Amino acid sequence: MSVQAKPVEVFDLVIFGGTGDLAMRKLLPALFHRFADGQIPDDSRIIGVAREEIDSDEYAKRVKDAIKQAAGDNKDLAKQVDPFLKLVGYHPLDATVDKGWNEFAEDLSDAKRIRIFYLSTSPSIFVDLCERLRQHNLHCGRSRVVIEKPIGKNLESAQRINDAVGAVFDESQIFRIDHYLGKETVQNLLALRFGNALFEPLWNSAHIDHVQITVAETLGVGTRGSYYDTAGALRDMVQNHLLQLLCMVAMEPPASLDADAVRDEKLKVLRSLTPIDNENAGKLTVRGQYRAGATRDGAAPGYLEDLGDDHSNTETFVALKTEVANWRWAGVPFYLRTGKRLPERVSEIVVSFRCIPHSIFENGSGPIAANKLVLRLQPDEGVKLWVMSKYPGPGGLRLQRVALDMSFAEAFGVQQPDAYERLLLDVVRGNLTLFMRRDEVEAAWSWIDPILNAWQTSSEGPKSYVAGTWGPSASVALIERDGRTWHDDEDEQ
Ligand code: BG6
Repeated sequence: MSVQAKPVEVFDLVIFGGTGDLAMRKLLPALFHRFADGQIPDDSRIIGVAREEIDSDEYAKRVKDAIKQAAGDNKDLAKQVDPFLKLVGYHPLDATVDKGWNEFAEDLSDAKRIRIFYLSTSPSIFVDLCERLRQHNLHCGRSRVVIEKPIGKNLESAQRINDAVGAVFDESQIFRIDHYLGKETVQNLLALRFGNALFEPLWNSAHIDHVQITVAETLGVGTRGSYYDTAGALRDMVQNHLLQLLCMVAMEPPASLDADAVRDEKLKVLRSLTPIDNENAGKLTVRGQYRAGATRDGAAPGYLEDLGDDHSNTETFVALKTEVANWRWAGVPFYLRTGKRLPERVSEIVVSFRCIPHSIFENGSGPIAANKLVLRLQPDEGVKLWVMSKYPGPGGLRLQRVALDMSFAEAFGVQQPDAYERLLLDVVRGNLTLFMRRDEVEAAWSWIDPILNAWQTSSEGPKSYVAGTWGPSASVALIERDGRTWHDDEDEQ
């Protein structure tokens, strides 16, 4: 049975950076899908803002191209393109120049409407933008601001951004987006852990041996080299997406789904991570950088070629081991790894349970493997529980591991919405549960900064790995030293 999504209230959404890549590739297609599903009222408005001097018609043409791609050859969706474009407008504006701001403010003067300002620009202009919004009194009433990562490069710069945005908007109006929290399987982790009696009693160090979180990408840095080279995988992926996933796995049950109840619990996890610094970074972290190789799509250039430079110490791969030092998790390693130009695009969380304490089966029945719960975020979203089962037929009690396998697409017969679809509507609804609070972002940086510092002061740079492989061999050693291996679904068969 499909559940009809409820329409949201009428809103004005302003996208600063409205001509940019994120707006065209993610935000506008996400809004289009929600519109086509009947969730966005016809008199809502979506207003692109950028410095480029184009008019609303030209902007609508660009939006049309972007969403036509999203509609693909689905005829029902194609019919919705023109009605959606009626919502779309454009204002050319420069945050550092007065021109146009009065007209823009006039256009948004209906303070009874929900007003959303999506800052999809470089953080360097967040301060100017917020200041403009305040000057024109657009920050109050039912206004909300959405900020995208990167929220800083370290704790200090994150605090500066948070101070600047916080000087204009109240924390309850600030939506710090981490699109991983909008992914269906991540939300499903809440459903799985707290909507079933089955898992929670086992969810602790007495029953869980270790946890792995992998976010692997096949693509390289492409045209984003100039940003990426100032960030690297630790800042770009671990500080936000991977740590947020870790929090969802490790947090205590919140008292409710209320935003602060959930965020309080995640914050406690971040504050309980065991520190990695100069003393132990060499042992607990591995960083890598891809060199030329081959992926499934053919020959792939190295990072330096993608970057167009002959030297860089930026990591495109990280693997690390940490622990959540609290009563529930002490002694359970959390292995995290992420990288670009790896063999497959796969994001998953693997919870490995402890082995059975004693086997009643004879030697010939094969090794008894530990249970594993695998939450697949992408592609093929789903949940697999690996259990031991009797191999059918006579010939004794031979055991083999087999997966109880639930694919969301098959179970629910619906296409999984993009993370931004859920998150954008949550902003309209004013629901902050899936957005990061200031103290969370800063706690994550407080844990990341000493790792960055250890790397910067180390005489060693990132280890090179061939594009299309699973990163430097040291990342395999990181986990194998502990007598464990990185999960590979194919090895389980
Ligand atoms: C972004 C990173 O936040 O997430 C990118 O900046 C990365 O480098 C992307 O490619 C991955 O997102 P997804 O949803 O494709 O897994």
